[in-house]
Amino acid sequence: MKLLVTGGAGYIGAHVVALAQQAGHEPTIVDDLVTGVAARVDSEVIKLSLGAPEAVERLSEIMRQTKFDAVIHLAARKQVGQSVEMPEQYYLDNIGGLANLLLAMRANNVLKFVFSSSAATYGMPEVDLVTEGQPPKPINPYGETKLIGEWMVANAANWGLRGVNLRYFNVAGCASSQLADTAELNLIPIAIAQLKRGEQPIVFGTDYPTPDGSCIRDYVHVGDLAKAHLMAVDYLKQPEQKYATFNVGTGRGASVLEVLAELKKASGIQFKEVLADRRPGDPPRLVANTERIEKVLGFKASFGLEDIVKSAWDAAN
Ligand code: WQD
Repeated sequence: MKLLVTGGAGYIGAHVVALAQQAGHEPTIVDDLVTGVAARVDSEVIKLSLGAPEAVERLSEIMRQTKFDAVIHLAARKQVGQSVEMPEQYYLDNIGGLANLLLAMRANNVLKFVFSSSAATYGMPEVDLVTEGQPPKPINPYGETKLIGEWMVANAANWGLRGVNLRYFNVAGCASSQLADTAELNLIPIAIAQLKRGEQPIVFGTDYPTPDGSCIRDYVHVGDLAKAHLMAVDYLKQPEQKYATFNVGTGRGASVLEVLAELKKASGIQFKEVLADRRPGDPPRLVANTERIEKVLGFKASFGLEDIVKSAWDAAN
């Protein structure tokens, strides 16, 4: 298949591109290279900011040159804290960028779409396992842009778009050092970078209502997540499939202290974590119910927490 992958030079996007190539597909990569890194991918990166005024015309040109079977749209800003500081930029890039992409797809009759959404659409759900039917209540502009993005995909069904929203839980790990997550923005890459600098990882909050007092998340290996994208494209090949939303997680939760215990094993460093206050806005527990994606797409995560942490450590060393 010919695939247009936006954000294909990013940490997750480059995993999707590599897997697509291995499966014999031909991905074309568009990325603004703000957080993306061209060296992550072997093929050409078309440098383009989807929110820019010329984006619809540039995307249309690209779509006229290649008749794409589907678009996998990962290009977006994804830092929660930054989204609170500069919400307009997040609306412009994440929502404006998606609007431009959909306009170009409509004009060029490209009708299959996989959208990179997020568990951030749920906000602070007070359930053990979150189903896709849980009312979304994002608590920051980043999560809002992802929820509005899902609505845009849903509404585009009116002109014939067939779309899948993938709500990522906590993505981590890596398939090779070339593809590593080099940004220090999430627990595992932050803790690895701290260890490499001789510092101690920090636990934000030890008084949550969880068995060990630290927050619980659903960590999913980026290689598994990449697979879910290709399964979503296959699903959309069935003409009766118009619109669907799936959680992408493992259905198993791990606490911050459990993640750091795995990091002690992977690194061989017996560090003592710094026990710190809670970080504002953290839900105590966010774990996916994965029944829908298992049943409908046949997706099941194959990597566990040990593989995730070990692959991230190995890639960084
Ligand atoms: C995980 C847990 C922290 C760093 C975020 C976004 C979400 C999604 C993924 C998307 C939390 C704790 C962290 C540290 C710690 N975004 N922690 N010490 O907040 O679950 O999800 O990333 O693309 O929308 O909100 O991920 O990795 O920041 O934190 O104790 O040094 O680790 O408090 O409980 P989070 P995270």
